[in-house]
Amino acid sequence: MVEFTLPPESRVVEGKTFTAPAGAARVKRFRIYRFDPEAGGNPRLDAFEIDLDRCGPMVLDALIKIKNEIDTSLTFRRSCREGVCGSCSFNIDGTNTLACTKAIDDIKGDVRIYPLPHMPVIKDLVVDLSAPFAQYASIQPWLQSDTPPPATERRQSPEERAKLDGLWECILCFSCQTSCPSYWWNGDRYLGPAVLLQAYRWLADSRDEAVGQRLDDLNDPFRLYRCHTIMNCTNTCPKGLNPGQAIAAIKTLIAKRD
Ligand code: SF4
Ligand code: FES
Repeated sequence: MVEFTLPPESRVVEGKTFTAPAGAARVKRFRIYRFDPEAGGNPRLDAFEIDLDRCGPMVLDALIKIKNEIDTSLTFRRSCREGVCGSCSFNIDGTNTLACTKAIDDIKGDVRIYPLPHMPVIKDLVVDLSAPFAQYASIQPWLQSDTPPPATERRQSPEERAKLDGLWECILCFSCQTSCPSYWWNGDRYLGPAVLLQAYRWLADSRDEAVGQRLDDLNDPFRLYRCHTIMNCTNTCPKGLNPGQAIAAIKTLIAKRD
């Protein structure tokens, strides 16, 4: 029989409960994953009861309220509160998404908040994203051209520019990346949907002249072809993008070239 060992941050026990203040009329319970590797012990699920009449409408508003008013040790990333920086990506109510654009009212029952799945946890809701960012760097995400730059700008027709729509909007939140079973099992060698969408963003750019080299680098059984079109990536993207389609477009470019 196969035996495997769960990572230490995966056996979750019941934690503390912080009850709502007396007189709270509209109480919502937030159950939040807590883990501090330096303190030792198992991770726990703490429960925080919040009065929604005294809280902003988004899940991030509740997290900030909890940190400011109940438990200052709660640790999570956030910056813009507008869905553009990509830092507040967590597993909320069973789906990877952005806390700042997820409305509390859209969640029935308790609001369950966990770190992005299958990533090493640094503390509480903060995961180590060093690996996907290194993979992002590996696709050389910048314009490459041997043509000397013109005096003003490298121009595109409206049609050429339109090919970047659905790609440039990616905020590298890695919701898609960490929802992908192929990435869970082969994340050391498979680039994953977020990085491949970014790779296609440069392949689709009419100003870029490194298409051949980029395709050579991607044409690999693991880096690209570990995608099995499960499509969790497209289903979870909080920006409504379609990494699965971008990956298929890369495969088509390689097939047409070969
Ligand atoms: S494609 Fe969507 S889910 Fe994936 S990193 Fe970009 S914005 Fe996030
Ligand atoms: S805080 Fe920037 S995307 Fe949520």
